[in-house]
Amino acid sequence: MTPTGRAVLVSGASKGIGRACALELDRRGFRVFAGTRNPDDGTTLSAASGGRIVPVPLDVTRESDVAAAGRLVTEATGGAGLWGLVNNAGAVYAGPLEHLPVDALRAQFEVNVFGAVALTQACLPALRAARGRIVNVSSVNGRIVSPFSGAYAASKFALEAVSDALRRELARVRAGIKVVVIQPGAVATPIWETSRDRAIALAERLPPEARDHYPRLMEALRKTRTPPQAVPAGRVAVVVRRALTTRWPRTRYRVGWDARAGVLIAWLLPDALVDLLLVGRLGRKGHAAR
Ligand SMILES: NC(=O)c1ccc[n+]([C@@H]2O[C@H](COP(=O)([O-])OP(=O)(O)OC[C@H]3O[C@@H](n4cnc5c(N)ncnc54)[C@H](OP(=O)(O)O)[C@@H]3O)[C@@H](O)[C@H]2O)c1
Repeated sequence: MTPTGRAVLVSGASKGIGRACALELDRRGFRVFAGTRNPDDGTTLSAASGGRIVPVPLDVTRESDVAAAGRLVTEATGGAGLWGLVNNAGAVYAGPLEHLPVDALRAQFEVNVFGAVALTQACLPALRAARGRIVNVSSVNGRIVSPFSGAYAASKFALEAVSDALRRELARVRAGIKVVVIQPGAVATPIWETSRDRAIALAERLPPEARDHYPRLMEALRKTRTPPQAVPAGRVAVVVRRALTTRWPRTRYRVGWDARAGVLIAWLLPDALVDLLLVGRLGRKGHAAR
């Protein structure tokens, strides 16, 4: 399938996987609309593409931004419609579920789940016109859950369910829209640093007994860093591009050996064994897969 001139909207394109996707898709001939929260990031990204990438102000948790982005791509693409929507914007709120403030859990879902669903709804008229594709960036944590990643993993499990529902609903009405899930393992992006800083800030808000309940928590959170097996963001971008161009895309693509191993472990092993494998993981290595 030739990308030439086909329009794609990527959310969370200011850095990391989203930025790599926007640049990869632009290089391959797509007409890229790049959603960023900070307009300066959009301008910088557009400049990096020689002005071809169209910046779109987009905080996926703001209804007005989402509606405006939907309108913009619908009007800009006209009858041709939107070929691809890459729901990539994401964040991590880490910490023990026992004490994690419920507002943090809500914020986690606002970005990773509700934001993705809202943007999909806003773009569906244009996606229908093109009989296009929705690519949802999930995670190996959409299949397997590490300690202190409960909120994040719950949001990615929800994104997986949303993707299955959309795929089946759209197939039922023969809308011609394919829904693809990407499950990366660890990827070298700023998310590790951002999530560590957010987790430390959250941990400081926890009640004093949290430190007794989880004595090595702060130490473990402080040790969060990009794991050695992390692949470059460009590896994920190539898989996203493939999902948008191959004639018959798979429903799920895993990126990295740790993603393949994680999914296989969750699928094959009984919970009791997975518990044994994962219970000490954060404390020993100081990080968990995103
Ligand atoms: N890196 C990994 O190891 C890994 C592994 C598996 C899955 N993933 C998933 O891959 C996706 C991208 O992650 P990444 O590693 O590239 O992270 P990143 O480098 O931290 O980039 C996250 C992007 O999402 C944007 N974003 C955050 N909240 C947003 C909001 N409310 N509205 C719109 N955009 C928002 C950020 O914008 P700002 O710059 O404005 O903050 C940034 O552009 C996420 O869905 C993540 O869960 C990552």
